[in-house]
Amino acid sequence: MSSMTRTRSEETYAVSGLSHRYPAGDVLALQGIDMVLPKGSVTALIGPSGCGKSTLLNILSGLLRPTDGGVTLFGSPLTGPPDEVAHMFQKATLLPWRTTLENVVLPIEIRDGKKAAKAAYGKARDLLRMVGIGDFEAAYPQALSGGMAQRAAICRMLITEPEVFLLDEPFGALDELTRERMDIELLRIAKDSEATVVLVTHSIPESVFLSDRVYAMSARPGRIEEVIDIDLPAPRTLDTFSDPHFVDRVGQVRRALNRGHGYDGQ
Ligand SMILES: Nc1ncnc2c1ncn2[C@@H]1O[C@H](COP(=O)(O)OP(=O)(O)OP(=O)(O)O)[C@@H](O)[C@H]1O
Ligand SMILES: [Mg+2]
Repeated sequence: MSSMTRTRSEETYAVSGLSHRYPAGDVLALQGIDMVLPKGSVTALIGPSGCGKSTLLNILSGLLRPTDGGVTLFGSPLTGPPDEVAHMFQKATLLPWRTTLENVVLPIEIRDGKKAAKAAYGKARDLLRMVGIGDFEAAYPQALSGGMAQRAAICRMLITEPEVFLLDEPFGALDELTRERMDIELLRIAKDSEATVVLVTHSIPESVFLSDRVYAMSARPGRIEEVIDIDLPAPRTLDTFSDPHFVDRVGQVRRALNRGHGYDGQ
């Protein structure tokens, strides 16, 4: 892997003075974004619809070049999609002609070929069982519910054991109880693998529950309204949701979002 030869920085990402303007429609999507994401940290991005969260993830994954400012990954400027980064898009895109299991091993097949993909079936099955859809390995995507497809897409992301997970509303299609269970599972995997996680969510409690730091963003053009440190102890469990300290942080994120919303108090 190319990263082995680099001198690694303790920071996974450093973003400075980043802005992005889409030429189509001349939309200023992001303005003056600064962030430092330490290795092994979990960061939540939250903000009104259209404030540039997906745009920011596309920039962090090297798919989109910002029109202004810089991004470094492990201390080196980001110039394209790196191997270490896995990106789960806002819409789960499974290939309709492959079974769930075959979809999960797809990144291995692309990287290492068909034989390696077959050898990864056991691991893929373990992942599918972990997210509660083990019985659906032979099903095709059209036979999955939206939330099941999302969970399969999460398995597809985890199978390569990436160092960085970029997740765009990964649990949006799940019922609340399954979502809480998936949140806990995701935290466990991230901590076990010392991965750095950047996660977009529209749920204020979820943003606090999952992260070390919440970046509350303002309405478009997206700016960082406030950075909220979430100093809750690990491991976080279902009891965390009723911890008074948790409730305080939820209030703090809500107030930051209110300030940045641009609805003039309406
Ligand atoms: N490819 C594109 N070309 C032109 N404008 C775009 C493009 N992608 C996004 N935009 C615009 O940039 C802004 C930010 O979009 P983005 O998808 O990043 O928002 P978001 O915060 O992810 O929203 P949501 O919460 O609804 O997913 C929006 O005004 C959108 O219309
Ligand atoms: Mg989005």
